[in-house]
Amino acid sequence: MDKLEHLGGLTANQFLRRHWQKKPLLVRGAFPDFRDPLTKKEVLTLAVRDEAESRMIVRAGKNWQLHHGPFSRGDFARHRDNAWTVLVQDTQHFSQEAHALLAQFRFIPHARIDDLMVSFAVAGAGVGPHVDSYDVFLLQGAGQRRWRISAQTDLTLRKDTPLKILSRFKAEQEFLLETGDMLYLPPGYAHDGIAESECLTWSIGFRAPTAQDLAVAFLDSLRDEIALDGQYTDPDLRATIHPGQLDAKMLERMTKLLRGVGIAAGKQARTHQFLGRFLTEPKTHVTFDPPEPVMSKRAFWRVARNAGVALDLKSRLLYAGNAFFLNGDALEINIGDEAPLRSLADDRVLTPVALTAALARTSADTLAASLYRLYCEGAIQHRA
Ligand code: SIN
Ligand code: CO
Repeated sequence: MDKLEHLGGLTANQFLRRHWQKKPLLVRGAFPDFRDPLTKKEVLTLAVRDEAESRMIVRAGKNWQLHHGPFSRGDFARHRDNAWTVLVQDTQHFSQEAHALLAQFRFIPHARIDDLMVSFAVAGAGVGPHVDSYDVFLLQGAGQRRWRISAQTDLTLRKDTPLKILSRFKAEQEFLLETGDMLYLPPGYAHDGIAESECLTWSIGFRAPTAQDLAVAFLDSLRDEIALDGQYTDPDLRATIHPGQLDAKMLERMTKLLRGVGIAAGKQARTHQFLGRFLTEPKTHVTFDPPEPVMSKRAFWRVARNAGVALDLKSRLLYAGNAFFLNGDALEINIGDEAPLRSLADDRVLTPVALTAALARTSADTLAASLYRLYCEGAIQHRA
């Protein structure tokens, strides 16, 4: 396996074995000629748009304020005298370059990726010492940021702020990150990043659902789908002198009916279907817009054959065996279309060569129809 410069010369597997979910890794010059996928101006422009999820954190001495976007330009100017930072989630929804940066981490399954967040901070600003429950690569863009980190187990939070700030942060290590340097932190590792100069910091964040979140979502999906047979019956009922009592037999019979829930929930096909949908589910503020205007099927294919197709920047496509999941739904596919759709899921693009090869097969019509339908829904596009 190749040694990767952005992992400090480790192979992906060496990194995963030694650091992933275990201990930090600082990589100086991880991306030697790093160029921010978005400029400061573009980041602040995103923070005023309502399709982007953004936050602003302002510190005045010991006081912290948290504001949610979308913001107006005046909001940034208003805090001129304080240490303020703006954070924008899911920048990969708005920038090809942001997606290209995420692609450097494709040795980790797409299902684990949460987003590429960016923060713009004025000198002295930060979000305060905290822990995240996610693995994160903190990549320094323009400017410099000083990171202080700690393996401390005291994760008590301050009660007097709207932010989750550690009340007793004791830095054990300190690094000044310059443009292109990167720091990997496993979940639960305390950290505090303070902008040394005006700066942009990119957070490649990985999600890991809690058992509780998974269970709640699974139970919700089960409620919509479950169809149990049977009904409570008591042909052997005898007269009672305690009509207020839930007697043992009644409880036992009803409990037995409920066992159907466990049986339905335990079916592997059902849990896999649920997980595919859950792991591709768009975040609440994400919407897919049909193209405007919609090209005819012929016109679409004329362009797509030459240029290839790509997933929309917001789309999540995953597969397990022959089952495909796109943006929270199972994708109906035709037998024989699996290989090109797997490439699309892995690489987010189907090159003209891959597309021509796929369309040369006998079931080409069905693949062409499926891809065109996804184009009409805004989930894929032809490449430029
Ligand atoms: C930031 O970029 O200011 C915060 C990133 C983090 O600490 O997770
Ligand atoms: Co953090």
